[in-house]
Amino acid sequence: MTYVTEENLTDVVRQRWTAIPDPRLRQVMQSLIKHLHSFVRDVELSEAEWFAAIDFLTRTGKMCDEKRQEFILASDVMGVSMLVDAINHRLATGATPSTVEGPFHVPDAPELANGADMAKGCPGIPCFVVGKVRGLDGKPVGGAVLDLWQTDGEGFYEAQRDTTEPWMRGLYRANPDGSYVVRTVAPIAYTIPMDGTIGELMRKTDISHMRPAHIHFCVTAPGYHRLVTHLFQRGDEFIETDVVYGVKEPLIVEFQKQKAGSKAPNGETVDTDFYGVNYDFILDRAAEAAIAAE
Ligand code: BEZ
Ligand code: FE
Repeated sequence: MTYVTEENLTDVVRQRWTAIPDPRLRQVMQSLIKHLHSFVRDVELSEAEWFAAIDFLTRTGKMCDEKRQEFILASDVMGVSMLVDAINHRLATGATPSTVEGPFHVPDAPELANGADMAKGCPGIPCFVVGKVRGLDGKPVGGAVLDLWQTDGEGFYEAQRDTTEPWMRGLYRANPDGSYVVRTVAPIAYTIPMDGTIGELMRKTDISHMRPAHIHFCVTAPGYHRLVTHLFQRGDEFIETDVVYGVKEPLIVEFQKQKAGSKAPNGETVDTDFYGVNYDFILDRAAEAAIAAE
């Protein structure tokens, strides 16, 4: 019998936790115990800090329901969500990179015709997003579905507005030549929810709690790897300090200013200044994307 000491405790615990029939769970628990013990040894955790951590996690759990996920927010601000995303979506060079989905996607967005307005009645500067969905071979992916969601021009998602109607989201289908045309309003930079435990933690740091202005996209087509990504507005003041580390260089796009009275890509003449964004989504084939879980 080996009795525990400070020195041998990690080995004793890991030895006990080898008794797990599922090999993946065994591997995960072995690594988790190793790193958790190593962290506690590294910072020499005090009992008061251990109690504070338990209290923090308990309060974080109590914040969570079907609309609010404070643990995911914790994962986001520590870069874990982006790391999991990177490991699970190792796409071929040239494919549009993925980034975090975030908590504001609502399924079953209304289907809209190309050129139709997904921001009807929402405040903001009109913005047209146009481009093509293509494969790595350059060929159009006709029929690809583009599911978009974003903030309105005041920085609020549907979940943050008191509305029963869809707000700032829509489903578009690429034409046979891969082209798509979205009419929306320009998003603006916004803060992550700061009224919970993660806000409490962020306020103890000098780290920005802002996300740069972006539009979320989920692009799907049979035979292609499902792409969840964003387009970010070039020049946004928070582009280099995105609190959830979602910005990748190929996803930064120009929001080109157009003068009132100019013709928009859907054929209409817009009577206010507006923005034009051009972006081609390049999809990887489903089988070619190296998915760690497979
Ligand atoms: C978002 O982009 O919607 C988002 C992502 C992570 C945390 C909060 C918001
Ligand atoms: Fe967002």
